[in-house]
Amino acid sequence: MQHESTQGPPGGPPSRRTFFWWMTAGMSAVAAAVVGVPFIGYLVGTRKRKIDWVKLGPVSEYPTGVTRLKTLDNPLGQPWDGMAAHTGVYVRYLGKDEKEKDQFQVFAVNCAHLGCPVSWFPQSGLFMCPCHGGVYYANGEHASGPPPRGLFNCVWRVVGKGEKRRLEIQAPHFPTLQDTLSEDDEATG
Ligand code: FES
Repeated sequence: MQHESTQGPPGGPPSRRTFFWWMTAGMSAVAAAVVGVPFIGYLVGTRKRKIDWVKLGPVSEYPTGVTRLKTLDNPLGQPWDGMAAHTGVYVRYLGKDEKEKDQFQVFAVNCAHLGCPVSWFPQSGLFMCPCHGGVYYANGEHASGPPPRGLFNCVWRVVGKGEKRRLEIQAPHFPTLQDTLSEDDEATG
């Protein structure tokens, strides 16, 4: 009994089996690239994400214990964001710690419920959300209403020395429960 040859004639076209083997290998390679390249890009992109620091002015601009709204043009914005790229954060200076380092709390304006901008009421010492009545204490902790946590904390730093110390924050994106602004952002409240 004769078996079908798996090899084409020398110098001739490849056999059907060889052809299918190469076709399967080629399609597998394409499928692996389609799945793998974006994943690798995601990993590399996350690690090398550029950090934009936004200047919020000299430390001397912030009296101790006072909460101030600072507006900023977010460098993470896109040209089509329009007015939405013009955002703000609430800054509260806590004074210096025992090592003489400036301490701040910087909150995103977005409510931790559905993201509406909250307002600061110095008379009552509370942040209030106009959308569904969420309330936060001056230190950002959740006081009442539907928000499941406190306000989102922005990453901040103080650069410079002496009278030239100034506050900077990492440009804030729109915060969510899954993607907060700070890696060690404790869910306050
Ligand atoms: Fe603020 Fe719902 S968005 S309470």
